[in-house]
Amino acid sequence: MAGNKDKVKFVCSNCGAESPRWLGRCPVCGEWNTMEERTEKAASPAVRPLAALHASKNPMKLSAIQTGKHDRLPLAMPEVDRPLGGGLVRGSVILLGGEPGIGKSTLVFQICRAVSGLGERVLYCSGEESEIQIKMRADRLHMDGERCFVVSGADMNDVITEAKRLKPALLVIDSIQTMYLGETASPMGSPNQIRDCTALLVRLAKEENVAVLIIGHVTKEGNLAGPRMLEHMVDVVLYLEGDRSYQFRILRTVKNRFGSTAESGLFMMGGEGLKGIEDPSSYLLRGRGAGTAGSIAAACMEGQRALLAEIQALSVHSVLAVPRRIAVGFDYNRLIVLLAVLEKRARVPFSQEDVYVNVAGGFKVRETAADLAAALAVVSVKWDVPVPAGLTALGEIGLTGEVLPVSHIGLRLRECVRMHMTSFLLPEGNRKDADAFFAAHPDAGRQVAYIGKVGEALALLKAAKA
Ligand code: TYD
Ligand code: MG
Repeated sequence: MAGNKDKVKFVCSNCGAESPRWLGRCPVCGEWNTMEERTEKAASPAVRPLAALHASKNPMKLSAIQTGKHDRLPLAMPEVDRPLGGGLVRGSVILLGGEPGIGKSTLVFQICRAVSGLGERVLYCSGEESEIQIKMRADRLHMDGERCFVVSGADMNDVITEAKRLKPALLVIDSIQTMYLGETASPMGSPNQIRDCTALLVRLAKEENVAVLIIGHVTKEGNLAGPRMLEHMVDVVLYLEGDRSYQFRILRTVKNRFGSTAESGLFMMGGEGLKGIEDPSSYLLRGRGAGTAGSIAAACMEGQRALLAEIQALSVHSVLAVPRRIAVGFDYNRLIVLLAVLEKRARVPFSQEDVYVNVAGGFKVRETAADLAAALAVVSVKWDVPVPAGLTALGEIGLTGEVLPVSHIGLRLRECVRMHMTSFLLPEGNRKDADAFFAAHPDAGRQVAYIGKVGEALALLKAAKA
């Protein structure tokens, strides 16, 4: 009988590492309490290798393999189509992550509406909401329900059966953490359940050629909850990000087997769902306090698009032993570094000052190209010298105080000119490309100064007062 005995092993639910005995901490990824007991039985359908789906037994010559174009469903929602790489690919599996309440279900509903508008069927499975709640949201989004079917329930096998019967073009799972597979002996929402349910969905997508959109919750740290390998199993990983106290949302591509990950979609959450923002700079700069000390517009890249965001700063004399630094929409550690560089390399001390930096409108600056603009905003408020309304600055600031070149200078400058910027403080290292840009755009009235050290930019700011 010994040969028939089920083999017990322990598998890390985070990274999939295996161990013959239980461990408190996974030796591979270092996560605590993730080793789960697994009994190896004859492989269930969920865990059979996925590669078997792509079914060719004999090796094929690369040149002999037919590719054809991916069969895509264009959604006519540019801010969604672009991150997807040009529409929803039939037979693909998409994972959409985001914080609770950020608008995942809303966005997915709008995608369902677009797919059913193409004359295709949609099956929406919710383990979170009842049919009535789903209907209420559908009404709010003016969704015509003729080709959209909903099931409220958590049993994965039922979902698969229904999907095979209805043959929709799109299957939505809202959310994977609320789905349950009887064969997997772990509680709902556990990493094992999530992985096995996803494996079944991937199989279904490939066998039935249905696009599967899986909604996933995120952890406190902002990562998708559940095993990390979930991201490896699916074709596309998207995140919907934003600050719930603002209307601004970004749909970001983290992985895409059918397109670029450098794309993103921008939205505004309104009374009728998410609306694509065509002109993000105007949206983010509306109501800008131009001409007030501590405000500057900075050109940032979001995906392949340049947009102007307003960086605001405030500094006041601190009554605390350790002065306070608060950054909203700007990297906190980056702010600390910039303040240190300003103090050491430009002799503008901040050690007695509380400093606050905020990016207006809920946008998050994620690149160092905005360093020089942020430094100017902070110094502007300290000196009480407004940054002229039409002045913008670009450049990364190094620890020695030098201003380093930025990427995509042409795209950024084009957006600045479109948004009526007239004075530019640019890194010396971008001189060649920037000169070429201005030579090609002689109509834009402007002043350009190339900056080598951060102190030079501050001197120009001071001169602006005089
Ligand atoms: P929801 O899509 O349920 O978020 P998630 O699925 O990510 O948890 O929606 C989140 C919020 O959006 C909710 O608090 C209500 C709001 N909302 C609007 O502002 N406008 C709308 O048209 C809809 C449908 C929701
Ligand atoms: Mg939801």
